[in-house]
Amino acid sequence: MTATPTRSIILRTTIPGPRSRELLERRAAAVPNGLYKAHQIAIESASGALVTDVDGNTFIDFVGGIGVLNAGHCPPSVVAAIQEQAAKLIHFSALVGTYEPYIALCERLNALAPISGPCKTILSNSGAEGVENAIKIARAATGRQAIIAFEGAYHGRTLLTLTLTSKYTFKKTFGPFAPEVYRAPFPAAYRMGVSEEEAVERCWEAFERILVAHVGPEAIAAVIIEPVQGEGGFIPTPREFMRRLRDFCTRNGSILIADEVQCGFGRTGTLFAMEQMAVEPDILVSAKSIAAGMPLAATTGRAAIMDKAHIGGIGGTYGGNPLACVAALEVVRMFDDGELLRRAKQIGAIVRERGAIWLRDIPLVGNVRGLGAMLAIELVKDRATRAPAADEVLEVVQYCAEHGVLTMRAGLYANCIRLLMPLVITDDQLHEGLDVLEEALHVVAQQKGGGHG
Ligand SMILES: Cc1ncc(COP(=O)(O)O)c(C=O)c1O
Repeated sequence: MTATPTRSIILRTTIPGPRSRELLERRAAAVPNGLYKAHQIAIESASGALVTDVDGNTFIDFVGGIGVLNAGHCPPSVVAAIQEQAAKLIHFSALVGTYEPYIALCERLNALAPISGPCKTILSNSGAEGVENAIKIARAATGRQAIIAFEGAYHGRTLLTLTLTSKYTFKKTFGPFAPEVYRAPFPAAYRMGVSEEEAVERCWEAFERILVAHVGPEAIAAVIIEPVQGEGGFIPTPREFMRRLRDFCTRNGSILIADEVQCGFGRTGTLFAMEQMAVEPDILVSAKSIAAGMPLAATTGRAAIMDKAHIGGIGGTYGGNPLACVAALEVVRMFDDGELLRRAKQIGAIVRERGAIWLRDIPLVGNVRGLGAMLAIELVKDRATRAPAADEVLEVVQYCAEHGVLTMRAGLYANCIRLLMPLVITDDQLHEGLDVLEEALHVVAQQKGGGHG
């Protein structure tokens, strides 16, 4: 006899409930409108893959704090490490002196980074800061200024990282942007409507043209790329494209920076997605899931490169705060036995299996892709034209929330639903959440008249 699945979703009110609405009103009055929110709910607590709002509704979380909670919400060992550290030392500043958690974490990251030879790591507070450090160090190490970044890239919202970011809706009124950033097309095969091989060839031709038309190779300090584009729509960089970039950087004396802020820390089934790319970066940026929600980023790279920034040139008041460091040390320990990585692959396989059915049955679903448990479902109005179905994505996201599952959109055209469930999610929770998502896709597809097959 098969066991009845345990149900996790508990909805006590319509969504949003009355207390959520109250807080939303206070937010509207106290916080600038520019701070986007995917959901109209206010959260009270969370554990594992479940979150409970202020009205007592419990949701299955497929967003994981935007890829921050691979190790789950409030893992007990992380909570204990933070509590113990908080009673001893909350802040000192690595600019003032040294404390062991900072050093111990850098040692572990240097050993774990998919970069051969000696590495060094500098810690900071956010993914954007980690990327800024990578760019500054690359410029210092090469004595060059130009950076090549890709279409669809997301590297953060500080002015330099917003320059590197390519989605215009994030940028709109905030220019002028930093100079010496050049944009190359990214081999997004599905969007381009060609095979992956063809996408690589076309984008490589464009990359080489940039070196003639826009910036000389001798000026290029670094090429920065997400091994799996996150905000751009969860598109894995084709290995052949990464190999060519590596080869270009090696021949040209440029630095290859892998931005693993969203795709790192176990999400793709290996600790770093670069482990699946067959080539090494020179610098790797990690953040988000590194510390289970404590603000932390790490910029790890070849020691000879990392040491090129002048003394006093990098760092900040809080970077590598002791609480964040002990949380990260505990997260790293949680990944040590390989169980969470295996689980990421399993989750990926389960979602892909469901995704294949959606692709077969629901014309609104144009593409299901990703790496490991970093998966997105791309919605299109018409499979032949691949016209992005952005409004439909919002409707699916809203339907899911109203039925107890939190999801979030992504994609250059905002027409993807990204799945970033904590890797500690149980099979029952995963299937319960996917059932709701499936129902949402059917309902929205039917409302839109089904599209063309
Ligand atoms: C690939 C990538 N790089 C950088 C960032 C910026 O990180 P943060 O929001 O912590 O500054 C993000 C955030 O989503 C990201 O996905």
